[in-house]
Amino acid sequence: MNSLTVELGDRSYPIFVGAGVLQQCDLTRYIKAKQVMIVTNETIAPLYLEQLTKLLVDYDVQQVVLPDGEQFKTLDYVNNIFDQLLKTRQNRTTTMIALGGGVVGDMTGFAAACYQRGVNFIQIPTTILAQVDSSVGGKTGVNHPLGKNMIGAFYQPQLVIADINYFVTLPQRQVAAGIAEIIKYGLIYDADFFVWLEQNIHKLVAKDPEALCYAIMRSCEIKAEVVSKDETEQGIRAWLNLGHTFGHAIETHQGYGNWLHGEAVAAGTVMALDLSCRLGWIGQDLLDRTKTLFELAELPIAPPREMSVDAFIDLMSVDKKVLDGKIRLVLIEKLGRAVVTDQFALHLLKETLSMGSSAVVK
Ligand code: NAD
Ligand code: GLY
Repeated sequence: MNSLTVELGDRSYPIFVGAGVLQQCDLTRYIKAKQVMIVTNETIAPLYLEQLTKLLVDYDVQQVVLPDGEQFKTLDYVNNIFDQLLKTRQNRTTTMIALGGGVVGDMTGFAAACYQRGVNFIQIPTTILAQVDSSVGGKTGVNHPLGKNMIGAFYQPQLVIADINYFVTLPQRQVAAGIAEIIKYGLIYDADFFVWLEQNIHKLVAKDPEALCYAIMRSCEIKAEVVSKDETEQGIRAWLNLGHTFGHAIETHQGYGNWLHGEAVAAGTVMALDLSCRLGWIGQDLLDRTKTLFELAELPIAPPREMSVDAFIDLMSVDKKVLDGKIRLVLIEKLGRAVVTDQFALHLLKETLSMGSSAVVK
């Protein structure tokens, strides 16, 4: 069993990674008292809820089963979680467990942050994307019709269990979406990892267990290091948002759930590299290598054809990185190193934003 720690002083927590770690890691050590509230969704409940509750026979276990989809990541549905917490008289020693992908994890974490001003919280991510990104680092929250992930809180879990056995049932489109965030880590932080990804991308797409474990561990190590340095995103943590300002605009424009988060991040990352290239910071070679990697992972490399420059600018202007009305972007200085900047000419940004209309997209 592989493990690592997110170092945050007395709020540090472990991440266990591997096949069967759910059974191996003694989950109950991280449960505070008798009451447990599992939050999951309609797809995951029939597949994995019973397996989890069997590990908790000595506890008073309640559950909330949410509808499945990014479009339900809203305050209304978090309120359903609060309803169930109150109806079942959960108290301050309750442990909430998120069993699912990033949508369930973000909503459960937010509910855990708010309920009685904060209860114990465990992440059991069941998608690749959630294992390498959303379950780690304590960003929780919901979408608003005017902006993605705009309502939320930083709230760290006590434990993350990244069991790759969940991927047996994971649809291939979701596998690709998770790989998008893995590629991000190579680009922003680790040139060697990027090269490893170029050599092993076919294994990840085929869900090869050894390759997946390595990629998840390396991604979590990078994320843990970044979060330990900058938990609340005052600086380097923003690097983790490479491609996200473009990607969130795509997700919001297309209607939540129509483009998967990872798909939007892939197209957005190509856009960030395209602008970095126009600025002369990176060469065409790195842009081409990145596009090839995304294509091999069956991910889009351009935004939706119908999305106008104005629509992009409008949606990007509500991004959380906007400062004094100026759009700031995560761009790439060289392979393995990102930068957050507003130092780009508007006409160059507009050239990048119009790339969808000239490209063949999904
Ligand atoms: P998701 O939660 O919607 O899950 C994807 C789909 O796969 C869903 O239909 C889900 O029911 C299904 N599924 C999950 N696990 C499965 C399994 N093992 N077998 C079969 N089906 C399974 O999407 P996601 O990609 O996991 O997460 C995306 C969300 O995460 C977005 O809302 C995004 O904003 C958020 N996110 C948050 C952070 C963060 O730091 N908090 C980081 C990245 C992304
Ligand atoms: N997914 C970006 C972050 O956690 O900061």
